Amino acid sequence: MHPDLESIMLSQETIGARVQELAARLDADYAGKNPLMVCILKGSVFFYTDLLRAMKEPVELDFMSISSYGASANTSGEVRLLKDLGCKIEGRDVVVVEDIVDSGYTLSYLKRLLHSRGPASVRICALLDKVSRRVVPLDVDYKGFDCADEFVVGYGLDYAERYRTLPYIGILKRSVYEK
Ligand code: PRP
Repeated sequence: MHPDLESIMLSQETIGARVQELAARLDADYAGKNPLMVCILKGSVFFYTDLLRAMKEPVELDFMSISSYGASANTSGEVRLLKDLGCKIEGRDVVVVEDIVDSGYTLSYLKRLLHSRGPASVRICALLDKVSRRVVPLDVDYKGFDCADEFVVGYGLDYAERYRTLPYIGILKRSVYEK
């Protein structure tokens, strides 16, 4: 375990098994629909690549970058679109893939933006859901795990751009982000 962590919350094996289950559900729900799978950079990149490789149905890939946190530990509520999709989504079935939903600001902004472009559907697939932190209502259609209100890093999740490449998700020691 990384020395900056207090404990491991989700092991590589636990995450892998859940990703397989989510991929099977998506395969069943989107059979023959060729959905557009949207990766929200950067945190969801490992979840996204694992999830899409576990799916058997054909899908298309695209990427967006939306910033709400900057380098601080708390959300500001301010959402900025840093990189938009490279394709039109009118009439398409869209699945937004996220690592974590916290306040809900990012995804509610994103859902509004995508719906304004006339897609057939927009659903959310998120690995972690911190329901207790929700400020704006936001339902997660495909959820990996409920997440306690802890500072979690790894498997894409960062603190000040660190720890993203850890293969598991762990709880960061308070001493790391309070110093
Ligand atoms: C995280 C996460 C979501 C957002 C969720 O991204 O990936 O996009 O915060 O928080 P919210 O529900 O409070 O809006 P972050 O801005 O940390 O960027 P990153 O994925 O590049 O690390």
